[in-house]
Amino acid sequence: MNYQRSLLGCILLILLFVTTGYNYVSAQSRPIKRMGAANTVSFDDGWLFARYGLQADGSKIEEPAGLETTSLNDGTWQPLTLPHDWAITGPFRIELDGATGKLPWKGIGWYRKHFVVPATDAGKQIFVDFDGAMANAKIWLNGKYVGTWPYGYTSFRMDLTPFIQPGKENVLAVRLDTENWDSRWYPGAGIYRHVWLVKTNPVHVDHWGTFITTPQITDKSALVNIAVTVRNQSEKAITANVLTTLFELDATNRPTKKVAVMKETVVEVNGSENKMAESQVNVANPKLWNIETPNRYVAQTTISINGKIIDTYHTPFGIRTLEFTARNGFLLNGKRVEIKGTCNHHDLGALGAAFNLSALTRQLKMLKEMGCNSLRTSHNPPAPELLELADKMGFLVWDEAFDAWKTGKRKNDYNKLFDHWHEKDLTALVHRDRNHPSVFIWSIGNEVNEQQNVELTKHLVDIVHREDPTRPVSNGYNDPNGGRKSGAAVALDIMGVNYFFGQQAKWDADPRYTNKPTIGSETSSCVTSRGEYFFGNNDYQNWQISSYDYAKPGWGCSPDEQFKTNATYPHLLGEYVWTGFDYLGEPTPYNSDETNLLNFRTDSSKKEELEKQLELLRQKNPPSRSSYFGIIDLAGFPKDRFYSYQSQWRPDFPVAHIFPHWNWPERMDSFTPVHVYTSGDEAELFLNGKSLGRKTKEAGKDFRLIWDDVKYTPGELKVICYKSGKQWATDKVKTTGEMAKLALSANRSVIHSQDNELCFITVKVTDTEGLMVPRSHPVIHFSVEGAGEIMATDNGDATSFVPFQSHDRPAFNGMALVIVKAKKGAKGPITIKAESKGLTTGTTKIQVQ
Ligand code: GAL
Repeated sequence: MNYQRSLLGCILLILLFVTTGYNYVSAQSRPIKRMGAANTVSFDDGWLFARYGLQADGSKIEEPAGLETTSLNDGTWQPLTLPHDWAITGPFRIELDGATGKLPWKGIGWYRKHFVVPATDAGKQIFVDFDGAMANAKIWLNGKYVGTWPYGYTSFRMDLTPFIQPGKENVLAVRLDTENWDSRWYPGAGIYRHVWLVKTNPVHVDHWGTFITTPQITDKSALVNIAVTVRNQSEKAITANVLTTLFELDATNRPTKKVAVMKETVVEVNGSENKMAESQVNVANPKLWNIETPNRYVAQTTISINGKIIDTYHTPFGIRTLEFTARNGFLLNGKRVEIKGTCNHHDLGALGAAFNLSALTRQLKMLKEMGCNSLRTSHNPPAPELLELADKMGFLVWDEAFDAWKTGKRKNDYNKLFDHWHEKDLTALVHRDRNHPSVFIWSIGNEVNEQQNVELTKHLVDIVHREDPTRPVSNGYNDPNGGRKSGAAVALDIMGVNYFFGQQAKWDADPRYTNKPTIGSETSSCVTSRGEYFFGNNDYQNWQISSYDYAKPGWGCSPDEQFKTNATYPHLLGEYVWTGFDYLGEPTPYNSDETNLLNFRTDSSKKEELEKQLELLRQKNPPSRSSYFGIIDLAGFPKDRFYSYQSQWRPDFPVAHIFPHWNWPERMDSFTPVHVYTSGDEAELFLNGKSLGRKTKEAGKDFRLIWDDVKYTPGELKVICYKSGKQWATDKVKTTGEMAKLALSANRSVIHSQDNELCFITVKVTDTEGLMVPRSHPVIHFSVEGAGEIMATDNGDATSFVPFQSHDRPAFNGMALVIVKAKKGAKGPITIKAESKGLTTGTTKIQVQ
């Protein structure tokens, strides 16, 4: 090896980097865990849990005093790792509220954690950050009260510094109380999101203390502005230098190319005060963030005193322009993007509310596949990871604060907190989320009772504008006409219409609203059960709902009708379908509680009739415990509607989807309507090779093709779809044989034990040829060998009372799901087995790394 030559090479390389200003952080640079202080570590491990008050079986255990004290003997408490939802283990109880999932989530939960911080941490600020705790959190350290945060969806920080004992054992105690919380859906219960330990110097970037804006963007350059709040928690005045460097951020969260160094600022901050340091820089040839190429950057901010770096803080961000117009929709970086969105609650099906990144990633991948480009976090602040995923995957986010203001929809919902907390909760939401490029609209509410209240609307909008003047504010109206008439909607930047577009034309012409961009903040609410089809004008049977995709509650409409509305008002920004995924709770129309009435509160004339219907329903004691609204069921299996949206939202993707299935022995020679969703414009249907005719879609009017006069004969039903006269896509369904075997497919072949990655394995009940047998419901027994264990099972049936943790689960219409995680610390293969009497066992293998 020629040493001199390689030395020369090195020098040249260094010179090249210096002269071009291209400074690469090594490819091995550490990934940035999250926005915030660099010294942030997971605090999820090693918790102990005990439940008091209401128990899972409905009994009550008196809550003793002194559960926060250090001397308490907690040796019998349940050890666990967060995130944790104490209610998802059930059992489902028929007498519990269907609207909130028939799960026993009401109770009082205590969590304790014993931990040591080294003696060398003396003098540091030590914080614990909760991403969300349901609900009414109260926190103690070493028996001393630290603070409270009641709203279960807000992320919050507790400062442990005054009570921490470095070098000794400390005990953190958290009391949660869901007995004093009410919800319209399953909220979960417990410390259901991640918790972090953050250590900083007394002088540091404040919690969520950076705000990055990009006031000018051209093709050639972007002006990036950062406002850094420097917090001085020491008693002395200090002079600090604040320096921010910008890097590109790759998909693994690693900073890569350095793109700019901002001008260093010097701030003087008195003891126990905060000071803002602002700086700007131009980034040349910015890589814009958009849905297709979600380019991200990260700002690394350091604070130095006397030349020594004492604090480092990371802020991922993106560069993009947002423009909302009343006549030409929404423009992202100057190009029109129609909002093709879904509303989603926060639960993750069989996992309950306990947050899991790989479970949410799986959901978002499916939504992306469908063509969904935007998420509405109905009706509360999401887990912070949802926004990070949205940034990375290219989703726009409607980030929502509340489902209720001063007057509740339920006795103990946000109305109990509003007066004292709304400003704190709203500010926390905006501060936490305002650097995410995905966040493009703030929402102050959903169908709140005071939606006509001008003053209150203005007050909340003003808070949001004060904290972030760069994004518009909206509110979801179920009485859009009332909200406009009163003038409350004038205060909004964007009018959010839930369902009621009847008077859209009138309001578009009203001088107060002519220039108000308008969006379908909630649409459709179509209800279906995957794989169920009923004939003859009756969509409802056995607590299931026909999948012909027409059933809807009084306020809703089919996807087709909404597409028609969207075509009628092309200037609307787009729509958010209720919902992307089925969720726990709100099993409309089978929810035997007042939710059914609530939704009609705009039409009081219907109240009496509805009350009667509700009473009848109550007497029947419906078993339904999760929603039917999802385009995708609770287990994550697409319903037929998935293809309706895909055909509409991805017009250039060849979609052909034929339904129903073709196993109708009892319908021999009966008319059995066949429907086809396609992104083509024409299609020809064949039954056993014989053409049943060609049909054409009328643009703006037809969103599916229908053959009503098909007489059932077993065999093969096939559709060939055309676009502009050329063959475009095909699909077929075939009458299957008897069920014969179980076929497994895993959504990934490798899981990493860190980050609690999960594998989702779909099981199909098939005949000997491998065709899924649509109406099969055999009980399947799941087992695993090797490095993993079963986390949960599901099948998407909204009426099932089988606990999600059970290893035995019937298939629902030919399908079931098993969710597998790695055993703590284990590596190597996991073999997953599905068995059912009389069927060939199915297995699959994955690896834990
Ligand atoms: C809406 C409400 C949603 C959900 C939906 C069901 O009115 O905003 O939270 O209840 O109805 O259709």
